[in-house]
Amino acid sequence: MLKLPALDTLINEFDVVLRTLAAPAVSARAHPDAHVEETEMDDAQRRHAAGLMRVNHCGEVCAQALYQGQSLTARDPAAREALRAAAHEEVEHLAWTERRIDELGGHKSLLNPLWYAGSLAIGVTAGLIGDKWNLGFLAETERQVGAHLAGHLRQLPPQDARSRAIVEQMHIDETHHAELADQLGAAPLPAPVKALMGATSKVMTTLAYRL
Ligand SMILES: [Fe+2]
Ligand SMILES: [Fe+2]
Repeated sequence: MLKLPALDTLINEFDVVLRTLAAPAVSARAHPDAHVEETEMDDAQRRHAAGLMRVNHCGEVCAQALYQGQSLTARDPAAREALRAAAHEEVEHLAWTERRIDELGGHKSLLNPLWYAGSLAIGVTAGLIGDKWNLGFLAETERQVGAHLAGHLRQLPPQDARSRAIVEQMHIDETHHAELADQLGAAPLPAPVKALMGATSKVMTTLAYRL
């Protein structure tokens, strides 16, 4: 029989949802752009940079939901702990991108609650399938996010050094998350699953850039 989570667990999990969607995120580490000078950009460049940072912020909202879902259903305590620790670091990415969007005069994606709900469901499902697949899903997500961030480094306005500093540090962190999942026993995902994940994230990034 399916065991229902305890009330305090439910309250804690709901608190994560509210903090991700409704409260400003806080970073324990210094923001990577803390000592980087703001540079001149024209309106089109600022809008473009804000759109890209909105996509990155939306990706971090999804990461919170995925990790939350995965840790809720992961069986191995070590895997569960690793997921929670990674989620903690992703909160910093939320904080960095959130502040940068603000500085660029942009706004966060209006569809964030929708992406959160979808990603939470995917995370819960991944966790239920089994730990090695759950970790495989985590590793593949992090690798795809890493590739996507590398793409943003090519697309950001060349002089937007502040956004670049943030994206570069995020890229380093996501690579570590993928390596951690591999060390914990991630199974390589079948190619069609990887392709489906890529297609889903393409929809998310296209919409988040505009909305
Ligand atoms: Fe992240
Ligand atoms: Fe990550």
